[in-house]
Amino acid sequence: MKAVIPAAGIGTRFLPVTKEQPKEMLPVLDKPAIQFVVEEAIDSGISDIAIITGRGKRAIENHFDRSFGLEHFLHQKNKDDYRDMVKRIGEMADIMYVRQKELNGLGDAVYTARGFIDGEHFAVMLGDDIFLGATPCTKQLMEVHEKYDAPVLAVQAKPREELGRYGVIKAEPIGHGIHKIVDIIEKPDPAEAPSNLATMGRYILPGEIFESLERTERGWGGEIQLTDAIRNLLEERDFYAYEFRGIRYDIGTPIGWLKSNAELALKDERYGAEFREFLESLLG
Ligand code: UTP
Repeated sequence: MKAVIPAAGIGTRFLPVTKEQPKEMLPVLDKPAIQFVVEEAIDSGISDIAIITGRGKRAIENHFDRSFGLEHFLHQKNKDDYRDMVKRIGEMADIMYVRQKELNGLGDAVYTARGFIDGEHFAVMLGDDIFLGATPCTKQLMEVHEKYDAPVLAVQAKPREELGRYGVIKAEPIGHGIHKIVDIIEKPDPAEAPSNLATMGRYILPGEIFESLERTERGWGGEIQLTDAIRNLLEERDFYAYEFRGIRYDIGTPIGWLKSNAELALKDERYGAEFREFLESLLG
């Protein structure tokens, strides 16, 4: 399976940081957020990756490239542990970059990757959503996909007042956190949301999504919505949703980013004890 990582978005919710730098490069502890996404793909058995980028996202390409100058410098300074880490990032996966020329929404971003996918199912992993859990979220979706030979969306139960920020599904539960999707609506009015199950940034989609995206008109926010293209396909084929195990952070907002850092810092063997002590002292 291949993966498409949309990372072209402008990052309005994280201005002014995102004025000149991609939000996907924000550090979560000591790693840029998008490295977590690429590592999740690799840990799920995916090594063919396309990252959708745009203006001002060059730092992402450079991060996953080899940096011979830095590697040489670290070696000369007897810092071979760091040298090896830097080298490993440059060799991590087969990544190609596709530019989304106009920011026409997530659906349009996925559509720009059509030449990379040959009709088969593929994973979509949003570059600003990270999942910290024992089993990678994408791997969990792949297991459900293998069982039903069908597309699968990651979902999570959310409080009603938050549902207006997400795609929300109407679905029939079929056990073990799996649901058969009946309908899906992008950013519904919370009072009218069809359930409390919101889509999070991981999907296994069928190749037909590209034809559906071609037919999809501009929706919420005047953008081509991936949710609407999925909705169009529901008449033709079954889609499933899976309530994945683990925590998801939207690092595209300051609070989501802070929470992801706090979880990792508390769990980190180098910093955990000191950080806990610091938090306790702050909280009195
Ligand atoms: P967001 O809704 O987070 O939009 O996109 P955004 O522009 O990145 O951030 P805000 O809302 O302005 O703060 C969800 C995902 O879709 C990608 C983003 O990079 C993110 O991974 N995206 C969105 C694109 O690649 N292209 C687009 O035109 C829109």
